[in-house]
Amino acid sequence: MTLLPTVSRRTLLAGLGGLALAAPALLRPRPAYAALTGRPFAQPALDAGRTEAGRRVFDLAVAAGRHQFLDGVETATTGINSAFLGPILSARAGDALRMNVANGLREPMTLHWHGLHLPAAADGGPHQEIAPGAVWSPEFDLRQKAGTFWFHGHQHRKTAEHVWAGMAGVIRISDNEEDALPLPRTHGEDDFTLVLQDRRFDPAGQMPYDANMHDRMAGMQGDVMLVNGLASPVLDADAPRLRLRILNGANGSFYRLHFADDRVFHQIASDGGLLGAPVAMRDTVLSPGERAEFLLDLADGATAQLRAEAFGAEAPVMGSAGIREVMTFRPKAARASAPALPARLAEIAPPPKATGETRSFMLSMSGMGMVGDFLINGRQYDHARIDFSVPLGAAETWIWENTTPMIHPIHIHDVQFRILDRNGRPPAPKEAGLKDTVLIGPGEKVTLRMRFDDYADPVHPYMYHCHILEHEDAGMMGQFTVV
Ligand code: C2O
Ligand code: CU
Ligand code: CU
Repeated sequence: MTLLPTVSRRTLLAGLGGLALAAPALLRPRPAYAALTGRPFAQPALDAGRTEAGRRVFDLAVAAGRHQFLDGVETATTGINSAFLGPILSARAGDALRMNVANGLREPMTLHWHGLHLPAAADGGPHQEIAPGAVWSPEFDLRQKAGTFWFHGHQHRKTAEHVWAGMAGVIRISDNEEDALPLPRTHGEDDFTLVLQDRRFDPAGQMPYDANMHDRMAGMQGDVMLVNGLASPVLDADAPRLRLRILNGANGSFYRLHFADDRVFHQIASDGGLLGAPVAMRDTVLSPGERAEFLLDLADGATAQLRAEAFGAEAPVMGSAGIREVMTFRPKAARASAPALPARLAEIAPPPKATGETRSFMLSMSGMGMVGDFLINGRQYDHARIDFSVPLGAAETWIWENTTPMIHPIHIHDVQFRILDRNGRPPAPKEAGLKDTVLIGPGEKVTLRMRFDDYADPVHPYMYHCHILEHEDAGMMGQFTVV
């Protein structure tokens, strides 16, 4: 019951050419270590920062670490204030922030605030490189609605490798509108953050970034499904209703999320914040980079097994039965009933009226089956080329067309956009709110509208790109300035 068009396996196999047949993941030597499954669910530390002269200040130290994913061995990783992944930064709409990002690696890196509306020089894209040993301290105001955002490495041509190693974390933002709603919001009690990723390990139990041709085509994938760095953890839940803030933090995997018993759950937020009303569903697809918040009812006392089914480009690797066990929710008791769902959530204004240009973006691949030719409007990313400029305050219409046989999740920095239509049809309710990353299937044409407010800078650009990180690194990216 997927609301988005699915890609048939045949189309994909045809599109991926002989590469799909190689399915290298299947030919790898069996790892000597098994994933440590069934551990208690845990979340990254919640970090509300500290206050300094009216600013909320976060100290983020990026460094190499070691984390246990597998039974009997530790794996070399990258983490931010921890061994793998980073903290959950907690802040409030309207806050003035300072991020102190200390690069403790032996190579340059950047840290990008995905989904945030901020000055381009503070964005943390590939132009805000942090040298080894240096500290980068951007300051900006949090001009967002309540929601779940994230941050991750964005070094030029190294994004995929850095994120694979663990350079990512979550930002959760609260505001008055969200406060007033009867929603679960107590972190660790009825409100949980889930960073979904998959990884594969070599026979020594390590996860080197060893992307082969197939990985660079389809996006790097692995057979071990992780939630916050844990393989198939178990959560013993006290509350009758849980709020799940889910980030697809994978390099290249699309997850079709559903429960083993096919139960109904409700989506309450998309990338940029709350939806207008809860949307009931039995499954939903999250593409790399996307976030969504859900309400899960456990009042019936039955165990809920969250699964992710391989979707899109992953199918040839995983096979049609590519089901991953994500995690288990085990209610401590059955309840008489779950509290009523709020009928309305946030006030979602209609998309802004167009006041600026209409731009077309065509996604293509050249040399079918060859690696490295992922293009936007026939071009690869050029670090020295600004593709266009947007006048400050303009509400523009961006039309994205996908002529490739693969799905591409398109992400635009600086803005939360609105989807006007998908192949001429209005967006499904779950896509009708604020978005910064949108899945575009083969043959699809998706029209977006957004306004570029507040921050003009003729020098520092913002990025737009495919969020399959291997595609981004291969050049399916462009940059624009707001002037
Ligand atoms: Cu989530 Cu340009 O990135
Ligand atoms: Cu971003
Ligand atoms: Cu792509």
